[in-house]
Amino acid sequence: MSDKNPTGAEGTEKAIPEQSAASPEPILKVEGLTKHFPIKKGLFGRQTGAVKAVDGVSFDVRAGETLGVVGESGCGKSTMGRLVTRLLEPTGGKVEFEGHDITHLSAGRMRPLRRDMQMIFQDPYGSLNPRHTIGGIVSTPFRLQGVTPEGGVKKEVQRLMELVGLNPEHYNRYPHEFSGGQRQRIGIARALALNPKLVVADEPVSALDVSIQAQVVNLLDDLQSELGLTYVIIAHDLSVIRHVSDRIAVMYLGKIVELADRKSLYSAPMHPYTKALLSAVPVPDPKRKGVKSERILLKGDVPSPISPPSGCRFHTRCWKATEICKTQEPPLIALKTGHQVACHHPENAPDQAPGEAVLPEARGSVEVVSVTKTEAAAEVSPEAEPVAEAAVDAETPEAAEPESESEPESGSTSGPDSTVQESTDK
Ligand SMILES: Nc1ncnc2c1ncn2[C@@H]1O[C@H](COP(=O)(O)OP(=O)(O)OP(=O)(O)O)[C@@H](O)[C@H]1O
Ligand code: SF4
Ligand SMILES: [Mg+2]
Repeated sequence: MSDKNPTGAEGTEKAIPEQSAASPEPILKVEGLTKHFPIKKGLFGRQTGAVKAVDGVSFDVRAGETLGVVGESGCGKSTMGRLVTRLLEPTGGKVEFEGHDITHLSAGRMRPLRRDMQMIFQDPYGSLNPRHTIGGIVSTPFRLQGVTPEGGVKKEVQRLMELVGLNPEHYNRYPHEFSGGQRQRIGIARALALNPKLVVADEPVSALDVSIQAQVVNLLDDLQSELGLTYVIIAHDLSVIRHVSDRIAVMYLGKIVELADRKSLYSAPMHPYTKALLSAVPVPDPKRKGVKSERILLKGDVPSPISPPSGCRFHTRCWKATEICKTQEPPLIALKTGHQVACHHPENAPDQAPGEAVLPEARGSVEVVSVTKTEAAAEVSPEAEPVAEAAVDAETPEAAEPESESEPESGSTSGPDSTVQESTDK
């Protein structure tokens, strides 16, 4: 399925499987999913508010496809992953797995389903018990499910170790005796032990060195082809997401703001937030040598999920915001076949609220810098480096700060759709 070169370069990402376009029933269906973590204060633990970590998210995942989920730190990606695998109890909404409503199943009734639905955790260090050997860790799912594989547990665990590229002779070693990449493989072996149908992988490569990231990404790819897995892959790195995903959901402050197939999203993003995120991704394409490109730097802090902004949650950082954006939440609707967006004034699509004037404060909400794409691309060598730099993190206010502070050469700050302010020419 993949050509083993997850650099983000044109033509190197995973081919979209034929079936993803017209697969019959989704394996996972999520409707209006919500998780509000209560904030309690005082002696009696009175609830004073809630962290709206996931706030009305709907999507489905078809059998055999990979849905990538991307967004800034704290936007609710991990919480969403834990909700769909029912490691967390949702506050509201519905989760259906293979047509069965599992939203409020008890732990006991979820147990048989755990075989089909597994999670690879964000932290490969913290998710492995340091006192257990690898053999013990990977065989845990068999123990919990009371399953004895043909040939015995040890033989099966060693087969799994081999499958993910670990030496089966290291069965009795402890987690600290492995590298980060090997520990991530241990997590993958454990997730695959019971031959699941759906795997939710939370930042499966973000804790790894760039040189190891490609190996793990390619491993996930190979396992999907070999075992027919369905993935939800959560990441903040748009280059990783581009390589692994068939469709992509972009999250902002607990909501999905755009959901589309990979090609459509990368070639014609509709949500201004997606456009800003994508502008930071290096494009290592020799054909675009010397081509200038805009990089959109969002200003202002990411608002708190305790009291998110009214209307469109992105309006405090959006250069296109109008009065309606402050008051009316845009629904997530399909503006093209298979391309959903939640925006009153989308890019690359008809304006949903024409005639509105851009708010004066919106004009200063971003800075646009001009970059020469090949120079950005040079950061990622197509031969050597597997995965480009973390793109979303580069858009966090902290990361953007130094560039935002650089003196503009001329003119005042303007939005990407109007006159481009070239403050830097890297
Ligand atoms: N158990 C919890 N109790 C209270 N708040 C929580 C809890 N878990 C997560 N949150 C909050 O919910 C929000 C979303 O957290 P989450 O871990 O889902 O984000 P994320 O998108 O995965 O971030 P990252 O990219 O940093 O992993 C954050 O504001 C976080 O502080
Ligand atoms: S144009 Fe309005 S609705 Fe669209 S992202 Fe900006 S603030 Fe939100
Ligand atoms: Mg997370």
